[in-house]
Amino acid sequence: MTEPGLENLEIARGQIRKARRLAVITGAGVSAESGIPTFRGSGGLWRNFRAEDLATPSAFQRDPKLVWEWYDWRRGICKAAEPNPGHLSIAKLESLLPEFLLITQNVDGLHNRSGSRNIAEIHGNIWRARCTLCGNQFDLLETPLSRIPPRCNCGGLARPHIVWFGETYDEELLEDVLDFLSAADTLLVVGTSGMVPMPVYLTRHAMSHGAFAIDVNPEDSELTHVVNISLRGKAGEVLPQIVP
Ligand code: OAD
Repeated sequence: MTEPGLENLEIARGQIRKARRLAVITGAGVSAESGIPTFRGSGGLWRNFRAEDLATPSAFQRDPKLVWEWYDWRRGICKAAEPNPGHLSIAKLESLLPEFLLITQNVDGLHNRSGSRNIAEIHGNIWRARCTLCGNQFDLLETPLSRIPPRCNCGGLARPHIVWFGETYDEELLEDVLDFLSAADTLLVVGTSGMVPMPVYLTRHAMSHGAFAIDVNPEDSELTHVVNISLRGKAGEVLPQIVP
């Protein structure tokens, strides 16, 4: 890991100062300093399963109890976690800008807890569930869960309200996101590997419509060679340096 570089920091600060319509895309890395393991980093495994083994409709069909036990473990970690300076800087940006959208792949709810309001949770939310029988969506806040797998009031099996591998994004939400990005002047991408391709697609879309894109990540990622500048470093250390 190298430092973000003074010159790049200065460019990022200048770009953010003059921004009028800014979007942020976040991934698991923004919550790493809050103690929530990333998916593809060390510590991301649970009982030797990878996310790709558990976050799928077929895994749930095969063993809903196992999938819910994994979510129960993750919900416990998310509940104990506190927003870090990275989340707080993003919330501050929203308060400074006339037009702002936060697009997050994270389901942990930490952006909301740190004060961000205009959030597109494109992968859903770990504190919401929906019934596989009647389709009802509801809050599920109890941690740890007293009953696994949880059930809907109608008696149907509940599942996490999360977009799993092999499932499609909410089309309406994605349309709104693309609309916002089509006229954004600045895009910050924070803490995503880009191994799930949506952040790269959204970044290319915004840039092809004129946005200046900045990536914040301690490591190289699929975004590194897409964006205008890459700031090497942790979200909680870099973002407070570029947000006024
Ligand atoms: P990944 O785990 O794939 O990538 C995390 C990224 O964060 C890596 O590029 C790290 O280098 C970077 N990182 C680590 N610590 C950081 C820090 N302190 N500050 C900034 N960056 C840091 O996570 P995502 O790209 O978010 O989907 O993964 C995308 C999706 O894959 C997730 O939303 C999840 C998973 O399957 C679902 O659960 C549906």
